[in-house]
Amino acid sequence: MDKRLQDLADRFSQITHQYDDKHGSEQKTIYNACASLVTEHANPGPDDVVLDLGTGTGLIALALAGNAGHVVGRDISDGMIEQARSKATDRGLENVEFGFGQFRDSHYDGEVDIVVSNFALHHLPDEEKREAIEVIADRGPRRFVLGDAMFFGSSDPEEPLFGHGVDAATVGELVDVLTDAEFVVTAVERVHDQVGVLVAEQASDNAERDTLPTESMSE
Ligand SMILES: C[S@@+](CC[C@H](N)C(=O)[O-])C[C@H]1O[C@@H](n2cnc3c(N)ncnc32)[C@H](O)[C@@H]1O
Repeated sequence: MDKRLQDLADRFSQITHQYDDKHGSEQKTIYNACASLVTEHANPGPDDVVLDLGTGTGLIALALAGNAGHVVGRDISDGMIEQARSKATDRGLENVEFGFGQFRDSHYDGEVDIVVSNFALHHLPDEEKREAIEVIADRGPRRFVLGDAMFFGSSDPEEPLFGHGVDAATVGELVDVLTDAEFVVTAVERVHDQVGVLVAEQASDNAERDTLPTESMSE
């Protein structure tokens, strides 16, 4: 890991034990709404493998483990990974694994059906966001659900919701990157002017769905 990433990982390891309670009230409400939408849109089935990038203390990964076949949580912070593992053990969840991995190199080589990420991609500068999304697309998941700080209006808001360490892109920029990576953006959820959830699916999956007989689609 380069020094910038190591410093970031260390900062998260230092706040691990307060992380689940640390947000101020407005931010906590927005964060919870975003996390719920990511979980809802991910919607894994019992045979699906889900990869959660920037999993932190495992909020999304653990929420999805009840319905998914297998969940893989990846993060750069040892402290956050340990906390996520401990929560999985406390809940008796055996189909979820946590370990070191980065957006552009998840250290997981298996097939992945759904990729999710909540409030983590903003840590990457814009060019690295693009590279990360390209790597995710190359894995061929049928769905990628991205919840994060993102600007629905100006990229330079008068009242920033988040401060230091948040390098948010505009919704338009993220949609362009997802589309360039050959995803089809099937939902855009606005949680706040500066927070949203984007759902991206493989173009081929959409084409397949569009050609299904009408009866199948209404079932
Ligand atoms: C704000 S927390 C969000 C954690 C979790 N997804 C949630 O919703 O609670 C951001 C997480 O992203 C991780 N992170 C930052 N940069 C990363 C990178 N390049 N690759 C993987 N994880 C990263 C941090 O260590 C941290 O745990």
